[in-house]
Amino acid sequence: MNNVRIIGTGSYTPDNIVSNDELSSFLDTSDEWISSRTGIKNRRISKGEGTTQLAVNAARKAIASSHIQANEIDLIIVATMSPDNFTPSTACEVQREIQADNAMCFDVNAACSGFVYALNIATTYIKSNMAKKALVIGSEVLSKISDWNDRGTCVLFGDGAGAVIISEASEEGIMNFHCKSLGKLSQHITCGARDLNNHYISKQTDKYIRMNGQEVFKFACTYVPASIQKLMEHSPYSLQEIDYFVLHQANKRIISSISKRLKIDINKFYMNIESYGNTSAASIPIALDEMNRKKILVKGNKIIIAGFGGGLTYGAGLITI
Ligand code: ACO
Repeated sequence: MNNVRIIGTGSYTPDNIVSNDELSSFLDTSDEWISSRTGIKNRRISKGEGTTQLAVNAARKAIASSHIQANEIDLIIVATMSPDNFTPSTACEVQREIQADNAMCFDVNAACSGFVYALNIATTYIKSNMAKKALVIGSEVLSKISDWNDRGTCVLFGDGAGAVIISEASEEGIMNFHCKSLGKLSQHITCGARDLNNHYISKQTDKYIRMNGQEVFKFACTYVPASIQKLMEHSPYSLQEIDYFVLHQANKRIISSISKRLKIDINKFYMNIESYGNTSAASIPIALDEMNRKKILVKGNKIIIAGFGGGLTYGAGLITI
């Protein structure tokens, strides 16, 4: 089996920074409520850019950082739960914009676990010799599927995109994954698509994100540490040897609870939720790109990424830089 490494990262978020105080000007909420329960202070909200545009901008930066040409990419996977269209896929639109004409392209929907799932798929393609270079993107414009009258959900989400380029390599980089789904708990995070409206029936659907916050909180604090433990069963390293944990940025308290359950110092858990809120599939690649640009990641670092969210889905991956 081929070795696979991350060779470049990129991210892009809309310019429009919306603070908790600004939300309080039109919603019955407060900076105190939002920041004490979630750790969120600001989020980026699109004033016109769609999911594809954010993905394209993140992809261009990842390609520049990896010093490859777009036509070397033979696989593009976009993880998103908020695409601009049912068809074409976001990945095909990214392909057109960046002229990656040699790629196979498709989207993956695993909500906030989407990037971990997509990276798992792309890694498997390269390990099994079906691709050599892949562009994996998490891109979301959650503001278009958030109910701006529901203070319990809209304050949590933000818009953004992150991307990585992975490549066949001589040394081992992306090692293994543990990804699972719990469809039986799907009712805890939902967002309907279109109404069923045809010649025979007219049935409305709820087109906004609805979430049973406390159930999701319990799910994340239970299943994510268990997934990381499972991942480590097939790892040459112990948990203590991991340099950084890059978890889906949904809630500071969830990350803190997971660090306690794993008995790992909270300072090893990278957090930027304060600036971006929950950007679903984009949160992990945005964090990876920030860490890369800040030179926090250095060659040889061992990191664990882990996502959790709608589906319900969860998963973790072990990566050496
Ligand atoms: N501002 C002020 N008050 C609020 C707000 C708000 N924005 N939102 C809710 N409240 C009120 C509620 O109305 C309720 O009031 P009441 O007691 O008078 O009825 C009170 O605050 C408590 O509400 P809860 O929903 O019970 O608050 P909780 O402490 O559970 O915190 C939260 C809510 C932050 C959503 C938490 O449950 C959480 O983070 N859950 C995990 C969410 C998550 O991680 N999701 C990730 C996956 S998302 C995805 O996949 C798309």
